Amino acid sequence: MTEGKPFSQACENNKQVILEKLSAVFINPGTVLEIGTGTGQHAVHFAGSLPHLKWQPSDHPRNYQLCKPWLAEANLPNISSPLPLDVSADSWQIPPINGVFSANTAHIMSWHEVEAMFRGVAAHLTKGDAFCLYGPFNYGGRFTSASNQQFDASLRQQNPVMGIRDMDDLKRIASENGLALESDFDMPANNRLLVWRKV
Ligand SMILES: C[S@@+](CC[C@H](N)C(=O)[O-])C[C@H]1O[C@@H](n2cnc3c(N)ncnc32)[C@H](O)[C@@H]1O
Repeated sequence: MTEGKPFSQACENNKQVILEKLSAVFINPGTVLEIGTGTGQHAVHFAGSLPHLKWQPSDHPRNYQLCKPWLAEANLPNISSPLPLDVSADSWQIPPINGVFSANTAHIMSWHEVEAMFRGVAAHLTKGDAFCLYGPFNYGGRFTSASNQQFDASLRQQNPVMGIRDMDDLKRIASENGLALESDFDMPANNRLLVWRKV
């Protein structure tokens, strides 16, 4: 039942394939911060399937309560109350964490916010911890599909600060913050699952 709750069809489509990757990355017990939780469908699916993790949803202060209906219905013991977190905030008011997950956020945030996300993630992870980032990405300035190119154009039309990010730029800011790209998985619908590791 999804009636009365915010709903994303994309989350329903991608949650199982993302879970398969996350279950191989987040193998040890610990707390995973989710950035830009949105509806909460991912949080519920991943926390329900990975009971050794404590899932910490968060989202921009204007959106962080959006996930509450999904969380309330699932009533899982290993999901914490969602936190308001704007990645561009000077300091992140979050509990200690052992990993980070974020889906479909890098093309919505401004580049300044993407940089702040990598900086904040790196500051809160310790050596060996993982940051899993899901979404569409470009390579060497090229789109991986015509549909991603159209999507990018529609994002930039809505707001010029949005847009699909290039792997070269992400690798640069990751490296500046002590994060190394461990895996870049090809996912359905021209998406990728990037695993960054704190070095
Ligand atoms: C396209 S939605 C993705 C939601 C969900 N992760 C999903 O995959 O369906 C983008 C999310 O990024 C969040 N977001 C945008 N700017 C942000 C910021 N500065 N700090 C934290 N979250 C932000 C939005 O509030 C929104 O929840």
